[in-house]
Amino acid sequence: MLGLKLLTDPRWANIAASNLDEILTDHAWCEQKAASNAITLITQNPEHEDLVHELTAIAIEEMQHFQMVIDIIKARGYTLGRERKDDYVGQLMRFSKKDGSRNQAFIDRLLFAAMIEARSCERFRVLSKNIDDQELAKFYHDLMVSEANHYTTFLHFARKYTTDVDVDKRWQEWLDFEGELIQSYGKKEYIHG
Ligand SMILES: [Fe+2]
Ligand SMILES: [Fe+2]
Repeated sequence: MLGLKLLTDPRWANIAASNLDEILTDHAWCEQKAASNAITLITQNPEHEDLVHELTAIAIEEMQHFQMVIDIIKARGYTLGRERKDDYVGQLMRFSKKDGSRNQAFIDRLLFAAMIEARSCERFRVLSKNIDDQELAKFYHDLMVSEANHYTTFLHFARKYTTDVDVDKRWQEWLDFEGELIQSYGKKEYIHG
């Protein structure tokens, strides 16, 4: 799915389903961070008009997702907790190139975003297929579709705006790295846990 090297063990959905308040809080902050990441890309690359336009739409959509999640948290009598540390995203951030050319850093930031969208999409799919709660199953199905579109958008801009990066080769490096990394996850009640 989306080139991912390793799919999530569906038993992770049981861990998530039995800790709904935790997974929803973590999920809410994932959406906020996705919006922030889109805004950062806009701030650093204002010369690309189409990118500014598309990523503005993504930032708004991610905050709409945030709002949907906090509405569910409220409706179910939970409270939004503080942001959880996301070790998975931290490790992806360390993998991304920051010391090369400006274009290399830019392309890797897009691929970093595409990678998180791909795995989040896959995790939402696992939730939508394995969670008994019908309202949440539908919610996660809808979000899965939305995040798959974001994944496509980030990869599209990486391919469009590369000047000195072989995007297909670099993307394979990302997929290989993530495939190794994710082997030590799948055990916690976080979206990337
Ligand atoms: Fe989202
Ligand atoms: Fe997204």
